Amino acid sequence: MNTHLFSELRMDLPGFQALAALLKDWTGIALGDHPQGGILMANRLAALMERLGVRSYEEYHSLLRALPPGSEPREAFVSALSIHTTAFFRHPHQFEPVRQAYLASRGNFRVWSAACSTGAEPYSIVMALDPLRHLVPSGFRVLASDIAEDVIQKGQAGTYTEKEMEGVGSDLKRRYWASVQGGMQWRANPTLKEKIIWAKFNLVTDSTHALRDLDAIFCRNVLIYFDPATVHQVIGKLISCLKPGGLLVLGAAEAGAVQHPGLERLGSAVFRKTEGKLAVPGA
Ligand SMILES: C[S@@+](CC[C@H](N)C(=O)[O-])C[C@H]1O[C@@H](n2cnc3c(N)ncnc32)[C@H](O)[C@@H]1O
Repeated sequence: MNTHLFSELRMDLPGFQALAALLKDWTGIALGDHPQGGILMANRLAALMERLGVRSYEEYHSLLRALPPGSEPREAFVSALSIHTTAFFRHPHQFEPVRQAYLASRGNFRVWSAACSTGAEPYSIVMALDPLRHLVPSGFRVLASDIAEDVIQKGQAGTYTEKEMEGVGSDLKRRYWASVQGGMQWRANPTLKEKIIWAKFNLVTDSTHALRDLDAIFCRNVLIYFDPATVHQVIGKLISCLKPGGLLVLGAAEAGAVQHPGLERLGSAVFRKTEGKLAVPGA
């Protein structure tokens, strides 16, 4: 890293704020609003800009704004400034209410993993529900989405290192995963892969109109990066995608802030959509 360039850039506060505002507009991520997030953002911006040979925040801002959505530098900007930390069976107790709801359903159970990062969450959902398939013959599907293309591609490829697979016990590995690369990596079997549909989806800017009557939504550890107004808007959208009685599963750190008349709290950051029909603003 060019430390001289980095220290010069950090002093350009208006330029930094313009990039933070762009990130917030495009993704909802308010990283620049917090001191720790600001430092992380400045570090990552320095690396991105060095790669492109861009010398100032202003130049980088103009370049990004001139490019069409989906172009590589825009994708790299969004992905580098999103936090992709994830794990298999993260917050494991949250899978049980979803298993119970699946058992109580008549099948055609549909789950959305709405900020799925590299795929550990949707694969965990499949591993939690698939063992029940003999009891619920018409089965289930999982939609896995994220704002960042590169993490979706990793999820779709379905190959993980031994370390990434830490939360997956040996029984589940035997049943659903193949050892590849001389035992260095694990690849998801077709039983897992065929249950998941992958999509690029921005929770803040994309429309959820095509998504209705879902049985459960996992939206974990992403709302913490949004400001309160954006959280409220996204929660409204998610509620509109659920069927009455459907479950909304959030990250432990974000559930406290959620007070919505369309939701009742079941505990452990798991909520149920209330049965009555509500007009949800922002849906
Ligand atoms: C910390 S990871 C959480 C992954 C997983 N849900 C979990 O809890 O393990 C947050 C993910 O949210 C994604 N993300 C950030 N902003 C988003 C947005 N506006 N729409 C959809 N996904 C977003 C990031 O790309 C990142 O992969």
